[in-house]
Amino acid sequence: MAEDPKKGDAVGSGVGDREGEEEQVVNPWEVTAKDGGKIDYDKLIEKFGCQRLEESLVRRVERLTGHPAHVFLRRGVFFAHRDFNEILDVYERGEKFYLYTGRGPSSEALHLGHLVPFMFTKYLQDAFKVPLVIQLTDDEKCMWKNLTVEESKRLASENAKDIIACGFDITRTFIFSDFNYVGGAFYENMVKVAKCVTFNKVVGIFGFTNEDHIGKISFPPVQAVPSFPSSFPHLFSGKDNLRCLIPCAIDQDPYFRMTRDVAPRIGYQKPALIESSFFPALQGESGKMSASDPNSAIYVTDSSKDIKNKVNRYAFSGGQDSIENHRKYGANLEVDIPVKYLGFFLEDDAELDHIRKEYGAGRMLTGEVKKRLVEVLSELVERHQRARAAVTDEMVDAFMAVRPLPHMFS
Ligand code: TRP
Repeated sequence: MAEDPKKGDAVGSGVGDREGEEEQVVNPWEVTAKDGGKIDYDKLIEKFGCQRLEESLVRRVERLTGHPAHVFLRRGVFFAHRDFNEILDVYERGEKFYLYTGRGPSSEALHLGHLVPFMFTKYLQDAFKVPLVIQLTDDEKCMWKNLTVEESKRLASENAKDIIACGFDITRTFIFSDFNYVGGAFYENMVKVAKCVTFNKVVGIFGFTNEDHIGKISFPPVQAVPSFPSSFPHLFSGKDNLRCLIPCAIDQDPYFRMTRDVAPRIGYQKPALIESSFFPALQGESGKMSASDPNSAIYVTDSSKDIKNKVNRYAFSGGQDSIENHRKYGANLEVDIPVKYLGFFLEDDAELDHIRKEYGAGRMLTGEVKKRLVEVLSELVERHQRARAAVTDEMVDAFMAVRPLPHMFS
């Protein structure tokens, strides 16, 4: 299949389109909607050249795994893909695949948006019973966020605890940090990839400029090669054709466009992708949450009191400005953040429908919806905090040990 890795140039590099309008910008480092509006995901699919995740694929996942579809699947949080149908074909034939995801450890505490891909990956691992590799790109954040090597490594192991707290199965999961693991077969693959990508091409895909340091320019192969089973000889030796599925937020797509372009040229399978939209900021849906504004997001370290405060004070409401108007016109659910957040984390479909209907018709008030959201989020965050407190340094070492996983497919 011919695929243009440079597809989405304008989006990737953040330059305006030909009519001179300001385009939305979506790349691994920046997510900004056009004119402070919402991200146009249809346009993104078209620009990036990925496929929409159709309802029929969701049904197929349920049929093949015997597990009900995850909330993030049935409500379209994961909305785009590349060759996910091929992964399901492979699985249907009784063959296996592996999962690959990752995190750039740029901050001490994760927010709810960071949890989304990990919660979903855990569901995929449980449903398909497949191995998983998780890359912690401490090198990436050292270069982009100007952290010291030591600080990046410390953040990587702190973040590993939050990731482990999501409940991954240690018999099927290998977590690695680039500073510790890059070398050997992994590095050989990086060099193979690097030889296939010109400077012009990374400029087209990522929008690097002449002023960017060469660390940034040479980084993409590091994130590319976990897509190839031969990068993990202790796990997949002799399984060079094993397919890889990458759950990620769609801002990571440029890395994997490049990877998929290179793969056949070095004799490897292209990784498949399943991609999510962004978790909106409390203030509204115009981009990713900003790490520099603690009031734009709920963190997994927040107390119930913090959560209550943030939701009540900052969560953008689609309710009307007076009770009379609200009763008359109802809430605008399209822009209402409490309803959006409930769409991610309230599992009960019937209750969510009820809230949407009553709130949308003005019979339910913003305060009631926010109250329910505070309950749902507090429970989620408290559960996470308990799980994280139980993760010891020894467990981190165990997940990160370079070791075979003899039962990873059973
Ligand atoms: N670059 C990603 C980040 O900054 C981390 C990452 C590495 C990743 N490999 C990945 C994310 C694979 C998703 C899938 O968070």
